[in-house]
Amino acid sequence: MADKESIKETHNYYLNTPMKNEPFMLRGSNSLEWGIKNRLSNIFNTDSGRTVMLAIDHGYFLGPTAGLERIDVTIVPLLPYADTLMCTRGILRSTIPPTFTKGIVLRASGGPSILKELSNEEIAVDIEDAIRLNVAALAVQVYIGGEYETKSIHNMTRLVDMGNRYGIPVLGVTAVGKDMARDAKYMRLATRICAELGASYVKTYYVDEGFETVTASCPVPIVIAGGKKLPELDALKMAYNAIQQGAAGVDMGRNIFQSEAPIAMLQAVRKIVHENMTPEEAYEVYQSLKTSKSKHQNPK
Ligand code: R5P
Repeated sequence: MADKESIKETHNYYLNTPMKNEPFMLRGSNSLEWGIKNRLSNIFNTDSGRTVMLAIDHGYFLGPTAGLERIDVTIVPLLPYADTLMCTRGILRSTIPPTFTKGIVLRASGGPSILKELSNEEIAVDIEDAIRLNVAALAVQVYIGGEYETKSIHNMTRLVDMGNRYGIPVLGVTAVGKDMARDAKYMRLATRICAELGASYVKTYYVDEGFETVTASCPVPIVIAGGKKLPELDALKMAYNAIQQGAAGVDMGRNIFQSEAPIAMLQAVRKIVHENMTPEEAYEVYQSLKTSKSKHQNPK
C-alpha cells in the first residue's frame, strides 16, 4: 500500500515545456499502430533509421543452401552483428537461441520447392504462432507478373490484415522469376503494389539504372536483397549505391554467409548502412577484420 505520510506536495508540470510530438523515423509509417511502430523499431536502428537484416531463409525452397548447411555453426556466431534476422520458424525454434532479442522477421509464405513453380505459394504460418514466437515482422513473397501473381498478392493482403489485428508489420518481398526483367520499371511496379496493398516495408533487388525512382515512388521503406554472391567490394558498392539512392537498409544473405569472412563482411556492410562509409573505406574495414581474425586463428 502506498505510504500516506510525507507525500511530496510540490508538483512540477513543466508548463513551459510543450510535449514532444515527433514523427516516427520511417517514411510513410507515421499513422501506423503503436505495436507496429514498436516492432519496426526492433528491425530498424532508431538513430540511423536503417537496418542490416541477415537473411537466412533460403532453405524454405532451396534446402541446405551453401553456407547454411549448419546454421548453428556458421550463422549463430554472426547474430551479434546483425540488426535483425530473417528466417523460417523451423530454423528459429530448432537453432536460434531464444536469448537473441533483436527483431525476427519470420518467413511467412512457402509451398513450392525449387523443383516446382515458385509463385504457387501459400501462407505458411498461423498468426498465433507468429505471436507465440514474438516476431517483429512477417515476410511474404509477392510474384508480380508471375504465374500465381494474384494468389501471392492475396497471401500478402491476408497477412497484412492479420498483422494489423495484432500489431505485426508485414515485409512484402518482391520475387523476380527466371523470365522477369530486373529493371527499374519492374521494380517500381512491384514495390508500389506491395506498398499500396499494405506492406509496412518492401524488399526488392537493386538495379543499376534508375533505382532512385524505385525508392522515390514507394511510399514505405525499401530494403535490398543481396542476390547472388559477388566479390566483396562489388557487394559493398551495391549496398552503398542502394543506400545513397534512398534504400533504408539491406536484407542480405549469400553475400554475407558465403563470404570468406562473414563476420568481417557483415561489419563492413554495417559501416555503409549506418555510417555512410564509402565502399572503398568499408572494404578496408573488411580486409583488416578478415586479416586480424585469420592471424588470431592461425598464429605463426
Ligand atoms: C529469397 O527468396 C530469400 O527470401 C532471401 O531472403 C533473399 O533472397 C535475400 O537473400 P540474398 O541476399 O541471398 O539474395
